[in-house]
Amino acid sequence: MTDIYLQLLIKNRRETAGFQYTVPSPQTYPYQWLWDSCFHAIILDHYNSWDAKKEILSLVAKQFQNGMIPHMIYWEKSNKTTFPHIKWGKYGTSTLTQPPMIAYAVWAIFQNEQDLNFLQTIYPKLYHFYKYLLTERDPHEKHLIGIMNPDESGEDNSPRFDKLLKLPVKHTREENRKRRFELIEQNIECKFDAPFCMRNFFWVKDVPFNAIMVTNLKLLAKIAEKLDRREDAIYFIKEADKIGLAMKEFMLQDGIFYSTYGEDYQKIKVKTWAIFTPLFAEILSREEAQKLVTEHLLNKDEFWTKFPVPTTALDEPGFDPKGFWRGPTWIASNWFIYKGLLNYGFTEIAKEIRESSEELISKSGFREYFNPQTGEGLGAKNFTWGGLVMDMD
Ligand code: GLC
Repeated sequence: MTDIYLQLLIKNRRETAGFQYTVPSPQTYPYQWLWDSCFHAIILDHYNSWDAKKEILSLVAKQFQNGMIPHMIYWEKSNKTTFPHIKWGKYGTSTLTQPPMIAYAVWAIFQNEQDLNFLQTIYPKLYHFYKYLLTERDPHEKHLIGIMNPDESGEDNSPRFDKLLKLPVKHTREENRKRRFELIEQNIECKFDAPFCMRNFFWVKDVPFNAIMVTNLKLLAKIAEKLDRREDAIYFIKEADKIGLAMKEFMLQDGIFYSTYGEDYQKIKVKTWAIFTPLFAEILSREEAQKLVTEHLLNKDEFWTKFPVPTTALDEPGFDPKGFWRGPTWIASNWFIYKGLLNYGFTEIAKEIRESSEELISKSGFREYFNPQTGEGLGAKNFTWGGLVMDMD
């Protein structure tokens, strides 16, 4: 079973201008993406940490002056794709970012060989990136990181963003895309100056992005310690704690963390898989975690489908078993939930999620996402994220 994952990643591997990276799907996504590359590095590290390192080195190669790492890098133009080409106002990369999983991937790589040279090389880039997020994306110093476009969440069409995009609950993928492109036009106009763009057009403090930030800052602190940068380590730990506390203060209601929007932190009360990401960040007490898992994850009317975990709860009006991020099960979201469950010792449930993820792949192949009720494979083919089951160990 194992080698099919490596084969897939090798098939999707590209080499350009001395850099090596992996495309998520040759036809549908023929470029390099930020969190995808972190997933690739995590998977590759199980086979060969040199390839994992190369994936990260190519990802940080196009870091912006202000520290932002773009969510897409077009190393080579591809004509054989259905991917809609967007005018980002910049050559060769997008001007948005994506969930900051890089410190996690780097720490995973370090576990393997304890290669301090690699840490040394990559650390300034990481420092700059996380520092950018902590400052530019939190202009009010409330300790919640903001995103300025749904695509920065990695869940482009999630129903969490409908209201802000002024879309009705039921709408087509085309309508959704049109609104997101309009937003990019506005972002180009405000020159992607994050505080300005967020204040004026789209400002979401998203639960998964912040949960991922908490875990990554803690790992970044470990990396800093390995390099004898004690002050940095203390700083990053403190920032992680502050985000965890702010999440509780602004997002938590009746046991559920909701993303918020705008200057006054209005809650977006839509139940998606995002509600489980605080388990990944370990910011819940044991009792809170237990309640979340029993009342929501294992609830057959919400998230416990035949092939869990749907990205949107069944009882949400926006639920669509085939809609992009609007219901289907994705292997990456399962991976986050799996790791979160292990943090709290829910090993049996985690195991069920791993087995169900494996079953989806053997039944329907390396598809982008799956119908959570039937297991039907949907979206892109030869999609790399399936390899994450390798890391559910
Ligand atoms: C889609 C997904 C995003 C991913 C990209 C490449 O846009 O929503 O999360 O990074 O495809 O796989």
